[in-house]
Amino acid sequence: MKKSVLSGIRATGRLHLGNYLGAVKGMLELQNDPQYKTLYMVADAHTVTTPYHANELKVNRREVIIDYLAAGLDPEKSIIFQQAEVNEHFELAFYFSSVMSIARMQHLPTFKEKIKQHPQGSTMALLNYPILMAADILVYKAGLVPVGIDQEPHLEIAREIARKMNEQYGTDFPEPVRFATKGEYVPSLKGEGKMSKSVEGSYINLTDSHDEIRKKVRSIPTSSYVGMDSKELLKTLFSYANLFIPKYKKQYEEELAKGTLKYISIKDQITEAIYNELKPFQEKRIEIEKNKEYVDKVIQDGTQKAKEIARKTVDEVKEKMGLS
Ligand code: ADP
Ligand code: TRP
Repeated sequence: MKKSVLSGIRATGRLHLGNYLGAVKGMLELQNDPQYKTLYMVADAHTVTTPYHANELKVNRREVIIDYLAAGLDPEKSIIFQQAEVNEHFELAFYFSSVMSIARMQHLPTFKEKIKQHPQGSTMALLNYPILMAADILVYKAGLVPVGIDQEPHLEIAREIARKMNEQYGTDFPEPVRFATKGEYVPSLKGEGKMSKSVEGSYINLTDSHDEIRKKVRSIPTSSYVGMDSKELLKTLFSYANLFIPKYKKQYEEELAKGTLKYISIKDQITEAIYNELKPFQEKRIEIEKNKEYVDKVIQDGTQKAKEIARKTVDEVKEKMGLS
């Protein structure tokens, strides 16, 4: 039997380069490997775990599907759907919550960080975030999850839940592992932390124009200030060079050592490489956006296929837990 793969991205806005390199590229690679059965969703229900606007979510849960299709996710090869349409995820999450302690969930670094970002947002939904994510994965018995490195603590919870369920109830859940890509950690353009939607000025959107990309790449810090050594200062620029123009790495290191390195020329080469990577995506996106019926059909078919698999798992779990 084929090994299952599941991944998702929250519907908090349009995708950026970090999402693309850390998650979507891995999704594509596994989709195109016939060993795997791939399921990719928009984690729309996870969006309500932090403050949001319903009218924006309504739009974004569809926009992310369009981004997926434009990036090359293919409904002939992958099941593409919206999480909130498949009730079984929530049903399974509730059963999973019976094997996890409150203390374990409260101590998770991702929970603590989110509360720091949204001090008013310490909700049960946020505490349950990783349990729902475990259900997303395990309802399809997926063993491989293409996501960025920041998601590792959540996968640890999913493995813990799989182990506990198997021990206590004799289920046969796999312990899911992360599928890492070369771009598993794309740094912020500002030189500190990761590229993220929630930090203004840190990201490049997949739909940014050539001009916007150039402006943003040129903003990567390269002029030193007191107390910072040049290696630390250039860390961000060099990670972008490594991701987008790896074959020039040696040349730049030599130029840096000789003192002849021109930052602007590396930056403009990075811009070209990013733009060339994004151009086919942008062209395809315009086409897909126009085809409303096609997008509706992809979502409808994907939901139906996902539901069929998910229902079987939940029925199995109910039976093992004494609920049927
Ligand atoms: P954001 O931090 O911008 O809100 P999400 O948390 O929605 O991004 O992440 C969606 C997916 O993209 C996850 O798999 C995450 O690991 C990946 N991802 C997000 N930012 C980055 C990044 N800077 N580098 C690599 N992967 C990332
Ligand atoms: N937590 C993921 C993120 O922030 C989104 C997500 C929800 C997810 N459920 C998932 C990712 C299941 C992989 C598998 O991007």
